[in-house]
Amino acid sequence: MATPTTTHPEPIYRVATLDDIDGIGECGADAMMEDDLFGALYPRRKSNPAQFSGYFRKRARQRIVDHNIVTLVAELPVVGEDGLERKMIAGFAQWQRFGGYSVETKWDPLKAAGSKIISFQDWAYSFIEPKDETSDPQAIAEFMEDFEELENRYWRKDGKEHDRWHLQLLAVHSSARRRGIGGRLVELGVEKARRDGCDASLEASPMGLPLYKSKGFEVIGNYTMKVKGPDGNGIPTPVLLWKNPNTVDSSKA
Ligand SMILES: CC(C)(COP(=O)(O)OP(=O)(O)OC[C@H]1O[C@@H](n2cnc3c(N)ncnc32)[C@H](O)[C@@H]1OP(=O)(O)O)[C@@H](O)C(=O)NCCC(=O)NCCS
Repeated sequence: MATPTTTHPEPIYRVATLDDIDGIGECGADAMMEDDLFGALYPRRKSNPAQFSGYFRKRARQRIVDHNIVTLVAELPVVGEDGLERKMIAGFAQWQRFGGYSVETKWDPLKAAGSKIISFQDWAYSFIEPKDETSDPQAIAEFMEDFEELENRYWRKDGKEHDRWHLQLLAVHSSARRRGIGGRLVELGVEKARRDGCDASLEASPMGLPLYKSKGFEVIGNYTMKVKGPDGNGIPTPVLLWKNPNTVDSSKA
């Protein structure tokens, strides 16, 4: 197991590149191992953690080249078992822009070409990759329905998306928690929303809720998923909004 180089090294926060895919895969699988939603979607993840991290690697590849998504990573220096220093992805956040236009997400021919190549690679790999044995296809289908219903209920109005940066996923490695990394990855998204003149939004896990509230997000609804948690009931999902003080609330006009 890698250990930090000093007791409290400061992470570097930056936008992810394709070189970060393995680090994001490791971090995502570690962070979500005990999460109820991922537990329901990937019930056999503990017996095949490598395949579980494969889900986060694939997800990272697709999102890094997506025009509307910015992946932020927190990188920490660590010393491996071989005594050599390397960098570890201690946390990451995937922020997606909905409803508006942003300088970072404008159309870029290199990203567009990268996106085409990666979807072709994923299609080609699907012929040779072993079948995913960790997931529950029925839970995944239910989650897709939940996702659509949530989007329609809270974030789409008259066919228009709420103008916002949405936190798709936040993950901090279990060895790097309670040191402000998750909080900083949230603040960076909120600062961007403030500059872009839009709101910020997310759906919280129970573990993330106190953090989001401490960063100014307010609960605007509580959705119960069709996907069932360990108690056999639909997973409760608080829906949160950070309202930009500089934008007009059109629903109240
Ligand atoms: C939730 C998560 C991202 C928090 O990351 P983190 O780097 O530990 O968060 P921070 O250190 O920035 O915490 C900021 C504040 O949030 C609150 N907080 C964070 N984790 C908490 C916990 N487990 N219980 C209660 N409060 C918590 C505290 O107020 C904390 O401040 P403090 O440490 O000074 O008390 C991390 O625990 C994680 O990856 N969990 C698993 C995946 C997950 O649930 N992700 C959220 C999906 S919506």
